[in-house]
Amino acid sequence: MEPIIAGNWKMNMGPGESRELVIKLLQLVSDVQNREIIVIPPFTSLPGVAEVLCNTKIKLGAQNMHWERGGAYTGEISGLFLKSLGCEYVIIGHSERRHIMLEPDEWLNRKLKTALDIGLISIFCVGETAQEREQGMTQQVIERQLNQGLRGIENEVHKMIIAYEPVWAIGSGKTATPKSAAEVHKFIRSKLKKPVTILYGGSVKPENVDALMQEEEIDGVLVGGASLKPESFARIIKFESKR
Ligand code: PGA
Repeated sequence: MEPIIAGNWKMNMGPGESRELVIKLLQLVSDVQNREIIVIPPFTSLPGVAEVLCNTKIKLGAQNMHWERGGAYTGEISGLFLKSLGCEYVIIGHSERRHIMLEPDEWLNRKLKTALDIGLISIFCVGETAQEREQGMTQQVIERQLNQGLRGIENEVHKMIIAYEPVWAIGSGKTATPKSAAEVHKFIRSKLKKPVTILYGGSVKPENVDALMQEEEIDGVLVGGASLKPESFARIIKFESKR
């Protein structure tokens, strides 16, 4: 399987900036092979980016969706709309959705089910907070997130991607050491019924990606801040591994 490098732009990059970023990125990675590259712009930038990416090797994803296909849900976005724009992936349960927008596990479970039904590949995020880690609860928290998020779809987990994103590492400049990330990935794998792709996320940068990707347990990375500059994201995509 090709390593997956996904760039989550969060609430950055309006339509014009997004197009510029992806045009530059395409130039920088024109020689790259054997990598699955995904960009995940904000909703309003998706149409413009989709146009630029048409027939290229970079895939498109969205940052969130609603579990219903349509209806009276003011301010929400249907997964069907995302698909019609050419999105193949959707992030579900990013820690900023869990902790700032207070999305409960039960909602994430519904979203994961809908994504499966309509044929979007979920990037399902799990991860512990700093406090939970200090209290030795990392495994317990992740097990709960997996059990509740995947309830009823345990046998279809191979159709999704899991992203391990320790909350304390996101946007903080602190990265999990490759060994400790690999340990959690191993734990996640042990709890799932099918073989699954697991990405690491949390302050991934050009400086640490090579060491992270050295770990066999790490199938790819989900990158926030460092995906906003074409040069740094391209360097991450071109990570060097002796694996
Ligand atoms: P970061 O964000 O790389 O800026 O830490 C990662 C993420 O939230 O997906």
